[in-house]
Amino acid sequence: MLPVALVGGALLPYDVTMLHSVSAATANPANSASPRFFESVGIRTGSRVLDIGCGNGDLGRFVARLAGPPQGEVVAVDSSEAALALACAAGREPNTAPITYRAADLAADLHDLSRFDVIVGRRVLMYLPDASATLARLVGLANPGAILAFQEHARASLPFGLAALPLHRRLYDWVWDTVAAEGGDVTLGLRLVDQMRSQGLSIVQARNEGVLIQPDHPSFLPTLMRIMLPRLIEHGVASAEEVQPDTFAQRIRDEHRAVGGTIVWDQAFLVAGLVAG
Ligand SMILES: C[S@@+](CC[C@H](N)C(=O)[O-])C[C@H]1O[C@@H](n2cnc3c(N)ncnc32)[C@H](O)[C@@H]1O
Repeated sequence: MLPVALVGGALLPYDVTMLHSVSAATANPANSASPRFFESVGIRTGSRVLDIGCGNGDLGRFVARLAGPPQGEVVAVDSSEAALALACAAGREPNTAPITYRAADLAADLHDLSRFDVIVGRRVLMYLPDASATLARLVGLANPGAILAFQEHARASLPFGLAALPLHRRLYDWVWDTVAAEGGDVTLGLRLVDQMRSQGLSIVQARNEGVLIQPDHPSFLPTLMRIMLPRLIEHGVASAEEVQPDTFAQRIRDEHRAVGGTIVWDQAFLVAGLVAG
């Protein structure tokens, strides 16, 4: 069984060590909306940026390119030492802003981080026990006129494609049932605009983008299944006998091949708001 990491008593949204094994070919398609969105929110050279729940540091490295040297800076925080170690190990890319990694619990007080021009996060608020309270703390760390930009997700009647996709649907339900069992908010994507407005932010962008799986690309779903399996079992959502991990990749490929076409797997909610200047 894969190891399951603990953060303050709560299960991590995933086992970050698994991310080592995710090749570019099977990169998480849920991230495909991120570059366009975060590029569009107005991160300027010289900005001081906070990346919350940085995980393996992928988003932090992306915004470090936008904040760029000489004056820019990215502070990337996560409560998981394993995630921070993984992010640190990736190193700094040339001609990007320096990144400082810090351990921090977003569900607790965020002191001594100083102020930021931009605060970003991807798939983090949805895992917190009280995203509103965290948003209020983040607004407290923001400079006047700062941008807060988040990519979050929500459970929907998915996936859909050209015909019924029973195995894809089963995996989708297993994943979201597990997130719910772990205390995540499976509706956060739909609440984000309201929650950001409640913190006094004016919304400058609110979009939704389908996360697509194409028939001619290696599917991320077998990797997702392997990442999730210990947690499915832990929460009694599914047993190994039901998942049949040894044949899962072949069966999911066969199902997609039989149906053909694009599968809409998930929805990314992309919301940016401005702190009053
Ligand atoms: C689904 S991952 C997303 C990682 C990264 N943002 C990305 O897009 O690749 C969620 C991250 O949030 C972090 N996280 C969850 N709860 C947290 C908390 N209370 N405080 C800080 N980080 C937390 C986890 O450790 C994990 O790295």
